[in-house]
Amino acid sequence: MQDVNAAPTTASMPARLLNRSIGKKLLMSLSGLVLLGYVVGHLIGNLQIFVGQNALNAYAVFLRSIGAWLWIIRAFLLGMLIIHVWFAVKLYFENRSARPIRYKRKVYQEATLSSRTMIWTGIGVFLFVVYHLLHFTFIVTNPQYSHLEDALGRHDVYSMVILGFQNYLISAVYLVSIAIVSYHLVHAAKSMFQTWGLNDTNFEKILRPATVIFAWLILLGYIAIPIAVLAGIVKLPEGVI
Ligand code: HEM
Repeated sequence: MQDVNAAPTTASMPARLLNRSIGKKLLMSLSGLVLLGYVVGHLIGNLQIFVGQNALNAYAVFLRSIGAWLWIIRAFLLGMLIIHVWFAVKLYFENRSARPIRYKRKVYQEATLSSRTMIWTGIGVFLFVVYHLLHFTFIVTNPQYSHLEDALGRHDVYSMVILGFQNYLISAVYLVSIAIVSYHLVHAAKSMFQTWGLNDTNFEKILRPATVIFAWLILLGYIAIPIAVLAGIVKLPEGVI
């Protein structure tokens, strides 16, 4: 039995908070918000493709021109991603072991159902990001893109994206992955409201539909790019084959 008179544990306040589910969930929602900020910023940058080759390539050059800051931001985002994934996996296994006897009939509560899908959509998002980095950042899967240059001698990110999405299989992978990202966001918002104690409040009643609309905007914004390429609305510049 627990000794109620025992001296308080020597573990620091943050360490004790981290050992509790709520501490892990808070860290997950904060890191998730930072990653969401990136997803929004990245979408705004990518939409430059509709302005044209110069706009998108200038944006890519601008990102590289911030030099050391780019690496600091990348390291920070990577840290956030690691925290997010690490605690997601930890909470997943803790929840499983808290229920040692498996239910005979699978009767899931609403919250349990969304947390069950979160781990799988989360894995889907993670695998997509790995593929995406190999595709467009490290240019490993399609090394032929690395030699593309525009008239100003800049890396031709614009043509790289178009060439990428002209491939039906690659476009399909992106369309499915972006749908998974958006689905993950809707359910992440739900569990975030729970973590912050906002569920079933009037505030949440307004925020919930707002997050669904927001996730739809993210979905439509991102899928517009491969769709516009496949539909021939965004085309390769003259001379690029
Ligand atoms: C139509 C959809 C997308 C397009 C066209 C696109 C395009 C790009 C391009 C061109 C780069 C390389 C930039 C460069 O090195 O100059 C890039 C990097 C990246 N993208 Fe995307 N992206 C898309 C969707 C996403 C989504 C949904 C996510 C996140 C879930 C994402 C996360 C990243 C990350 C983390 C990087 C690495 C950034 C860095 O270099 O520091 N992208 N993307």
